[in-house]
Amino acid sequence: MAKLKITETVLRDAHQSLLATRMTMDEMRPILSKMDKIGFYSAEVWGGATFDSCLRFLNEDPWERLRIIRNEMPNTKLQMLFRGQNMLGYRHYADDLVEYFVQKSVANGIDIIRIFDALNDIRNLDTAIKASKKEGAHAQVAISYTLGDVFTHDYYVNYAKQIEEAGADSLCIKDMAALLTPYEAESLTRDLKSAVKIPVQLHTHYTSGLASMCIMKAVEAGADVVDTAMSPLALGTSHAPTESIVAAFQGTEYDTGIDLKALTEVRDYFMGLRKKYIESGLLDPKMLATDANALIYQVPGGMLSNLLSQLKQAGKADQLDEVLREVPRVRKDSGYPPLVTPTSQIVGTQAVFNVIMGERYKTVTKEFKGLVKGEYGKTPVEIDPEFQKKILGDEEPITCRPADLLKPEFEEMKKECAEWLEQEEDVLSYAMFPKVAPKFFETRRNNRFGIDNKHSDFENKVMPV
Ligand code: CO
Repeated sequence: MAKLKITETVLRDAHQSLLATRMTMDEMRPILSKMDKIGFYSAEVWGGATFDSCLRFLNEDPWERLRIIRNEMPNTKLQMLFRGQNMLGYRHYADDLVEYFVQKSVANGIDIIRIFDALNDIRNLDTAIKASKKEGAHAQVAISYTLGDVFTHDYYVNYAKQIEEAGADSLCIKDMAALLTPYEAESLTRDLKSAVKIPVQLHTHYTSGLASMCIMKAVEAGADVVDTAMSPLALGTSHAPTESIVAAFQGTEYDTGIDLKALTEVRDYFMGLRKKYIESGLLDPKMLATDANALIYQVPGGMLSNLLSQLKQAGKADQLDEVLREVPRVRKDSGYPPLVTPTSQIVGTQAVFNVIMGERYKTVTKEFKGLVKGEYGKTPVEIDPEFQKKILGDEEPITCRPADLLKPEFEEMKKECAEWLEQEEDVLSYAMFPKVAPKFFETRRNNRFGIDNKHSDFENKVMPV
């Protein structure tokens, strides 16, 4: 019997998508032991933007959060999201740091590492996959799903075979921008299932209102695991509601085995949090609305709000439509990268510059130049050499795996943050966020000695989603 498995995302992606990743450890803690008894296949609890948010906004040690969750949820597999060679940061890191990060994540409680690369360049995943296997974790590779002429099922099947060959234990269709439609979810799942032997999971967002239907069709086509979120933090830019998906398959061959009544208590708890988030303004009810424009603009929800905030800062909020028309053009010029962290920010910011400067590529960001140069890996489509020359000037493009050009950096990082170290993991927090982490370390130290903290105002940056 093909029992459907559920990955519960309320502790990571759901609050990252709806409330800028601001759920705190104190808010999670009271419900963890109840969640542990539900029978979820896994709970996504860490990685993505949670690490950044802990240090930057919540004054929490992300490693301590992981240890607490592990302690309170001994029976549920804990899952994290990991950006391949970017880890939880926004640049490529040397292999020694990637290996160390994976080692420490597993040592502190992670069972499943979901690894993805924004360009679907398998070379950027190899180190993380090997490290996960070495530590005895489950290595899942997520395919960054997007639309465009080049993104045929042949393209995805070819990538899925590379993923299986690289040693991944499962794969995931990662539909971060909610572009999947039910029948596409069905046929893509079917094609992937017949191409590889490893399990296939579906991760799709509710933004365009289609997620529940996509899940149903994908499950009928053989998807083994699906991502959902407890209903108080489901829908909108989040995921399909866990309870509804459990109910939909009850009594069928896909029955999840989860007891709906047991979910009620968990729901009641998060309903209280939802009320609190709405009252404090952290959760804007607009985020809960269905917006089929996602299918027209084809940009992730988080990217749309980032574009608007960049335009507002430049006093050009009225040019959003032009920027949204410019995004596909910039994507085409830069080899059709799927739009997900960090490419969503890189392409989006360049599109904003092209529009507000009134001339394409008059100003080119360092990151866009890096993308065109090959610093992030191989783009799905080769970049036109003439365009590349225009952006790079005399600089030579990179064609090897970008991390091959990086020297080991662990020792250097350790030296730089030596004065703050209280645990081995602190080096990794520093390596991810060298500007933000020291402020956290200082606050942590001052708290211990009862000193008042002068800078409780952490940099109030727009959070990448
Ligand atoms: Co997501």
